[in-house]
Amino acid sequence: MRILAAIGALSIIAAVSAAVIFFGGFYSVAGTAEEPAIVKWALIQVRTASIERHAKDAPPAGLAEPASVQAGARKFLEHGCATCHGGPGVAWMKFSEGLHPDPPDLKYVVNDRTLAQLFWVIKNGINMTGMPSFALAGAKDEELWQIAGFLKKLPTVSEADFKTWTAPVPAAPAAAPAAQPESKP
Ligand code: HEC
Repeated sequence: MRILAAIGALSIIAAVSAAVIFFGGFYSVAGTAEEPAIVKWALIQVRTASIERHAKDAPPAGLAEPASVQAGARKFLEHGCATCHGGPGVAWMKFSEGLHPDPPDLKYVVNDRTLAQLFWVIKNGINMTGMPSFALAGAKDEELWQIAGFLKKLPTVSEADFKTWTAPVPAAPAAAPAAQPESKP
């Protein structure tokens, strides 16, 4: 009985202390605040397990075709992925170094991810990090699969290829002005 009372008292003290730390403003939400190593480790485990469990969609056929990979490269640039992650010959914007956690250089992670996992992350984002959900941002599944297909090739994409693939399509020549009817004398 005494032990139960002690456990009860300790739980109340723990709850009150947690309330004071979190609601009293003692916990720092600063982007510069380093989390303890164990919290960092736990966050990575939770993220990895969550993505593995959720990413179950079967990729459409043809994602490795050059046309699809090149379309993926264009969408990667159009959707602003390079601003945070960089790309072949494209530097990430300086602000992304202020994000915590840091956006990874994707060429170092994609070999350890499946197409379905890449697609799931791009579609849904990663909560409470800088990684946006591109479904919420209005992108279609088809283009997100193309981006995932491009990412799988990323480690072997040269700067020159990326530049060619993402070059703006030249505008169609302007239509000739309609012939003016000759004015009558
Ligand atoms: C505003 C910055 C930002 C933009 C824009 C952004 N990301 Fe991210 N992304 C992040 C951050 C931060 C993480 C790391 C999250 C973490 O560590 O849990 C991340 C993580 C990822 C991951 C998971 C990496 C891994 O280790 O498995 C992928 C894949 C990814 N981003 C792809 C993209 C693609 C593709 C786009 C564009 C469609 C994009 N991101 C746009 C910030 C960004």
